[in-house]
Amino acid sequence: MSMKTLLCACAAFCTALFAAGSASAADSAMPLKGAHKAMNLPCEACHGDIKPREVPEESKCMVCHQSREAVKAKTAKLKPNPHYGHDETVECTECHKEHQESVLLCDECHQWGYKTP
Ligand code: HEC
Ligand code: HEC
Ligand code: HEC
Ligand code: HEC
Repeated sequence: MSMKTLLCACAAFCTALFAAGSASAADSAMPLKGAHKAMNLPCEACHGDIKPREVPEESKCMVCHQSREAVKAKTAKLKPNPHYGHDETVECTECHKEHQESVLLCDECHQWGYKTP
């Protein structure tokens, strides 16, 4: 291999490395929380292949979380159950955020004060 091809190959390699490096830098600006972080979920698990990425559809969450009934059962001991009071249309992501603090939508009107993961 001549010195010139060697340098070219090296430059191409470094460019590829830099591209990969900057992609993961952008991704790490979107940190995960709790169980999802521990599982090291790839972005696609929630966002699919859609680019630019949008707020995930509930169907993506349900691949793992099964059904609203199953989610409701998990917090059945709480009175009232935050998993659906009188509004069944609210999507998971209206309360559960992944890259920022979650919010408890109920408390726009009530003061249940549940800590929302
Ligand atoms: C690849 C599987 C998977 C996907 C996709 C997924 N989750 Fe999870 N999630 C889990 C597992 C496993 C746990 C831990 C066990 C549990 O609490 O059900 C968890 C836990 C949670 C928790 C409890 C907090 C915690 O960190 O333990 C919330 C809230 C949650 N998920 C919401 C969501 C929402 C909202 C979405 C869609 C935007 C989603 N999940 C997508 C697997 C997944
Ligand atoms: C109105 C707000 C709200 C919505 C909408 C909501 N959640 Fe939650 N969720 C909460 C709160 C509050 C908790 C914590 C309850 C507690 O204190 O244990 C919680 C807890 C959880 C947990 C942990 C349960 C455990 O094991 O203790 C999971 C998993 C979860 N939510 C998934 C979901 C999924 C999936 C959806 C959509 C189908 C959803 N949530 C919709 C408010 C909400
Ligand atoms: C467990 C599900 C989950 C995973 C995994 C996940 N996200 Fe998200 N993402 C969300 C949710 C929920 C929102 C809605 C706003 C928020 O939580 O901050 C969101 C919002 C976003 C947005 C903003 C979209 C908008 O229009 O507001 C971007 C960009 C994004 N995510 C990028 C990423 C990247 C990059 C990764 C991988 C490192 C990733 N996400 C992994 C759940 C997830
Ligand atoms: C847009 C405002 C609004 C939101 C958001 C909301 N509620 Fe309510 N809720 C009300 C109103 C109004 C009443 C009726 C109050 C009354 O009759 O005194 C009520 C009544 C209730 C009651 C029975 C009365 C009581 O105060 O004990 C429960 C339980 C309840 N809501 C739970 C929830 C839960 C859980 C959520 C979140 C999943 C939620 N609500 C979200 C407005 C709201």
